Amino acid sequence: MDQLTLARPDDWHLHLRDGPAMAAVAPYSARQFHRAIVMPNLRPPVTTTERALAYRQRILDALPADSGFQPLMTLYLTDNTSAGEVRRAKSSGHIHAVKLYPAGATTNSDAGVTDLAKVDDTLATMAEIGLPLLVHGEMTRADIDVFDREKAFIDHQLAPLIERHPRLKVVFEHITTRDAADFVRSSGPNLAATITPQHLLYNRNAMLVGGMHPHFYCLPVLKRESHRQALLAAATSGSPKFFLGTDSAPHTKDAKESACGCAGIFSAHAAIELYASAFEQAGALDKLEGFASHFGADFYGLPRNKEQVTLVRQDWRVPDTLPFADDQGEAPLVPFLAGETLHWKLVT
Ligand code: NCD
Ligand code: ZN
Repeated sequence: MDQLTLARPDDWHLHLRDGPAMAAVAPYSARQFHRAIVMPNLRPPVTTTERALAYRQRILDALPADSGFQPLMTLYLTDNTSAGEVRRAKSSGHIHAVKLYPAGATTNSDAGVTDLAKVDDTLATMAEIGLPLLVHGEMTRADIDVFDREKAFIDHQLAPLIERHPRLKVVFEHITTRDAADFVRSSGPNLAATITPQHLLYNRNAMLVGGMHPHFYCLPVLKRESHRQALLAAATSGSPKFFLGTDSAPHTKDAKESACGCAGIFSAHAAIELYASAFEQAGALDKLEGFASHFGADFYGLPRNKEQVTLVRQDWRVPDTLPFADDQGEAPLVPFLAGETLHWKLVT
């Protein structure tokens, strides 16, 4: 098969940043995806409906008027997010989920939730009104090994949470382990998961063998090969509980190539092509459309996209850097697999 046509995909987990940085990266997502769930971990975080609607407008203003891209906004859950705020969010029509970052888990997560008991009423309200909770599934206690944090989150936080709120829709974001895939598969229909391209294509050797490779560092961190295989099996299984979420998370070259490098991999320049490579490796290109274009929309209760996109088998080289910006001004970004040759290309 040298050509692949599927319904236009959506990205159910995306970091777009803000200001000039956002203007630099948003077109890569808009080119491939019709919609994206936009993460709220800005500084300051997107904690209110008002902030989310203003952010949505800034994203739309940064794109050409005819791009057709729909940013689906999220609220950042804090210890103080009220039931009233999530009701306002839902009735705005533009806010599609609330994101839980355990405090300290990842980039810009210091305003995150310190104790789920503090937001119990808010979670009950979300279950009632049908607003999904998206979780960064890592338990951040200092004594838990970084490679065990996802499993600890399942055992100590996620399992009790879904038992307490069985009607709450939950997306376990960017899962990285066999444990997570098994847990999602064996739970009811209100729990689903997103999977990134890097976790389908690479294990932790890519990050750590032959030197430290900061452009393979993201959170949750890449795991061992047996976990990658379990994720690939889940993504290509045809189960509607697993769908596309790139977690594309741009940082400047300097911020990544540093003594304390930032977590986050920018994959939006080639996202659907990377997923196509992973599915092809598994001999499951026929399962890509469900994962990329159907199951996420179904879970969120949104219509499936009618438009189609086509990928062709064609070698192309990923650029070494792309234009980007930080607070000081222009600064380059190193895209995922910079300098490497990819074998699928989206036709525009
Ligand atoms: C994300 C970021 O940079 O905002 N980084 C990452 O490694 N994935 C935050 C996140 O989703 O954890
Ligand atoms: Zn993320």
